Amino acid sequence: MFKEQLLKGKSGIITGGSSGIGLMVAELFSSLGAGLTLCGRNGEKLKEAKNRLSGEVLGVSADVRKGDEVDALVEKHVGHFGKVDFLINNAAGNFLCPLENMSENAFRSVNDIVTLGTFLTSKAVFPHMKIQGRGTIINTGTTYAYGHGALVGHSGAAKAAVMNLTKTMAVEWGPYGICCNMVAPGPVKDTEGVRRLMGAPELAGAMMQSAPIARMAEGVEVAELMVFLMEARYINGAVIPIDGGIHLNCPGLLPSHIVEEVKRVLPAKV
Ligand code: COA
Repeated sequence: MFKEQLLKGKSGIITGGSSGIGLMVAELFSSLGAGLTLCGRNGEKLKEAKNRLSGEVLGVSADVRKGDEVDALVEKHVGHFGKVDFLINNAAGNFLCPLENMSENAFRSVNDIVTLGTFLTSKAVFPHMKIQGRGTIINTGTTYAYGHGALVGHSGAAKAAVMNLTKTMAVEWGPYGICCNMVAPGPVKDTEGVRRLMGAPELAGAMMQSAPIARMAEGVEVAELMVFLMEARYINGAVIPIDGGIHLNCPGLLPSHIVEEVKRVLPAKV
C-alpha cells in the first residue's frame, strides 16, 4: 500500500510497543524504514519485540505514569536518533469491571497509564518537536470514548480525557508544525485488549452483532492509518474511528441492553 522505505530517516517512540496494537504498528513502521524506540514495563517482552523487528530499534523499560522515567525515555531516544519525529501514545490498561466493583486503585491505575501517561510523554517530546518545527503525535483511542464505557468505566473515562487532550494539543502545538490526532479502533484481532474484553463470550457475540463488517480489525489496518497520518500534514485534532462502523450501531463496548446480562456472567477477574 505504501511506497518502499516511506518512513526512512524518521524515528519515533511507541509506548506499549512490545505487544498488541503497539507491536503491530511497530512492525509496519519499521518495515517502512522508521527508527523506533519501543517503551514498555516488561524488559523481557521488549527484548522479544525487538527481535521480531528488522530495522533500528531501541527497547526502553519505562512506566509512562512516572515523569522521570518518561523524560529518560525521550532522552534515550533523542540521544540515539538525534531527533523525534513521532510519538505514538499506545500504552493502556483495561479489564472488564462494573463500576460498583471497581476499586479506587483500579480506576486510578488505568487513568494514570492512559491519561497521565499520554500527557507526560507528549510534554516530554514537545520541546524537541518544537525545535524541529515538525512532529506527529498519534494517540490510540477507542470508539467508546465518545459513547459510554459500561463495564470499562475506567478506560472510557481515560480515553475520553485523551480525546480532549488530543484536541488541546492540536490547537496549542499546531502552530509549531506538530499534528496531533487520535485513532480510535474497535476490537483488533490477536490483542491483549480483545483477550481481556471479550472474556465473556456473550460480549463477543453482542459486539459482532453490531458490526456492519462482520470481523475484527487486523492490526495492520490500524497501523496503515497511522502511517497515513504521518504524511497527512493538514489533519490535526481529528478522532478517526477504525472499527468497520460498529460505533454507528453500538455507542459503547457493548450495547447497553445487555450490560446486566453480561455482568451476571462476568468471570471474577478477566
Ligand atoms: N478486575 C478488577 N480489578 C482489577 C483487575 C480486574 N480484572 N485487574 C486489576 N485490578 C485492580 C487490582 O486489584 C488493583 O486494585 P486494588 O489495589 O484495589 O486491589 C488495581 O486494579 C491495580 O492493579 P495492579 O495490577 O496492582 O496495577 P498495575 O498498575 O500493575 O496494572 C492494570 C495496571 C491494572 C491496568 C493491569 O491490568 C495492566 O498492567 N494492564 C496492562 C495490559 C492491558 O491491560 N492491556 C490491554 C489494553 S487494551
